[in-house]
Amino acid sequence: MGITRVGVVGCGLMGSGIAEACARSGYAVVVREVSEELLAKGLARVEQSMQRGVQRGKLASDEARAARARITGTTRLDDLAEVDLIIEAVVENMPLKQEVFRELDRRCPPSTIFASNTSSLSITEMASVTSRRDRFLGMHFFNPVPVMKLVELVRGLQTVDPTMTAGRRFAESLGKTVVVCKDSPGFIVNFLLVPYLLDAVRALEKGVATKEDIDAAVQLGLAHPMGPLTLLDYVGIDTTYYIAEAMFQEFKDPRYAAPPLMKQMVLAGLHGRKSGRGFYEYTKEG
Ligand code: CAA
Repeated sequence: MGITRVGVVGCGLMGSGIAEACARSGYAVVVREVSEELLAKGLARVEQSMQRGVQRGKLASDEARAARARITGTTRLDDLAEVDLIIEAVVENMPLKQEVFRELDRRCPPSTIFASNTSSLSITEMASVTSRRDRFLGMHFFNPVPVMKLVELVRGLQTVDPTMTAGRRFAESLGKTVVVCKDSPGFIVNFLLVPYLLDAVRALEKGVATKEDIDAAVQLGLAHPMGPLTLLDYVGIDTTYYIAEAMFQEFKDPRYAAPPLMKQMVLAGLHGRKSGRGFYEYTKEG
């Protein structure tokens, strides 16, 4: 199961980071978005991130140029027919993800491994619409992908050992540390992270403290790199809301029920850093 060519479906926050990390590690990458506009936006994000990497001394400018040249953008799923591994990173919506995999299953040879970057949805359920349930796994990256060292590798009910081994080798070749988990909602990180983030919003709703003080308390009192409300803005309030909803549907546990303020912010388009405003406001410079 040698992997040299990688397909990435979706070039949003996660998809663009995954495409960048793969290209920086020498893989040829085909990344697909639904429109030319979204594709251009995603590829611009890759370039900005690589420039930041160059400025921070993490990669040489000729390496950045070479990595960028390894990425091909497309709006056609047909262009993913010849890759060895596909990593799906579209929005957290099961019917949409299943539709993407159903379409890819018709186009790709049986040897192509399918992976989903889902944060919370069932790998087994996604794999069920394909003819390759044994060569299907979860590969969950963290934002910002080029910086964060973890990949959660998720074994679906029918995923076989060689698929897990190929997934591990691939993730490690990107410089990531792998943890393995079963197909359980939220896997390891979001099982723990989501109730904490929702509690931070509840604390704000209840007037326990200002948003600045909630963030400063966690950042300085617990030595986290970001406070929870800043992290929510960073990950995306909409994304976290969809993750929480999916986990609530599975567990029926109120710890995963998104607070009303979060729902209102999603409906109002206050999605965090990417939309210019969430709990905080963001200028172009950040
Ligand atoms: N390429 C390579 N390296 C880069 C880079 C890039 N584009 N941009 C930054 N870096 C490196 C920097 O060189 C620096 O490295 P050193 O520590 O070796 O110097 C490091 O990354 C930190 O970068 P900065 O100094 O620019 O920025 P910072 O210190 O303000 O950190 C941050 C930014 C990494 C985002 C930090 O605030 C952080 O870790 N925040 C928490 C992020 C987090 O929790 N992510 C997980 C979210 S949950 C998720 O994603 C999953 C889900 O399902 C919801």
